Amino acid sequence: MQSSDNVRVALVTGGSLGIGYATALMLLKEGLKVVICSRRQSELDSAIGKLKEIGGDRIAGKTCDVRKYEEVASLFEFVEKTFGGIDILVNNAGVGLFASVEQMAVEEWHTVIETNLNSLFYCSHEAIPRMRKRGGGYIFNIGSLAGKNAFPNASAYNASKFGLIGFSEAMMQEVRYDNIRVSYILPGSVKTSFRGSNPNDPNSDWKLDPEDVAQVVIDLLHHNPRSLPSCVDIRPSKPKK
Ligand SMILES: NC(=O)c1ccc[n+]([C@@H]2O[C@H](COP(=O)([O-])OP(=O)(O)OC[C@H]3O[C@@H](n4cnc5c(N)ncnc54)[C@H](OP(=O)(O)O)[C@@H]3O)[C@@H](O)[C@H]2O)c1
Repeated sequence: MQSSDNVRVALVTGGSLGIGYATALMLLKEGLKVVICSRRQSELDSAIGKLKEIGGDRIAGKTCDVRKYEEVASLFEFVEKTFGGIDILVNNAGVGLFASVEQMAVEEWHTVIETNLNSLFYCSHEAIPRMRKRGGGYIFNIGSLAGKNAFPNASAYNASKFGLIGFSEAMMQEVRYDNIRVSYILPGSVKTSFRGSNPNDPNSDWKLDPEDVAQVVIDLLHHNPRSLPSCVDIRPSKPKK
């Protein structure tokens, strides 16, 4: 699972901010080549600027709306053209829109399901044949503890993240004999801009740092391939009471 110059290539969706950005940064520190994507060009450019300080020409980015299969397909062509292939996919891009089933607009429902669930299929569908050609790979799906615990006004988010677990487990069993590993990570609350939160709010000190989640990705990459930790829950040690 390595490119011809022995440097592995990773794609992180939603890599301009939060957990995706922290993961891209750590992968660069590990010496990998990394592509990030997000929808907004300005946020992407700003992230690439900062990541270049660590990664130099091992970082590249492209705008992509992961809800759109055609854009995902051209993103994978970009990865291949830029770095020669893909070894690691981090399906991280996600949104949270919260309202009761009665109040939620149909468009909002589609936004959550298409971003958090359909994108997993689009990206993995593109990644698997490319990884198989290179002898293997690793797909990480960033879920949420909301994929196991339902709560009111979260039907769309819960459905997308419960769905991520089923999708990940089925895919893991399909591809494991091709040396393609699949793990899904379920964080509790993380200090990011998710849902318009302020990651620097001192009242959020109890939450996970995005680096805590990124570290799980790095640890799993170093895990002895004889076994597969297919699911990792990660939660703040001392959540707010
Ligand atoms: N923060 C938490 O408390 C928490 C807890 C558990 C799980 N998670 C999960 O962790 C993942 C990352 O969340 P985060 O907290 O790091 O969020 P964040 O800080 O809001 O970052 C989300 C990233 O995803 C990108 N994105 C959103 N929609 C996209 C789309 N349609 N196409 C491409 N990129 C898109 C955003 O860029 P653009 O907006 O420019 O596209 C941004 O780069 C999500 O899957 C989330 O469900 C978060």
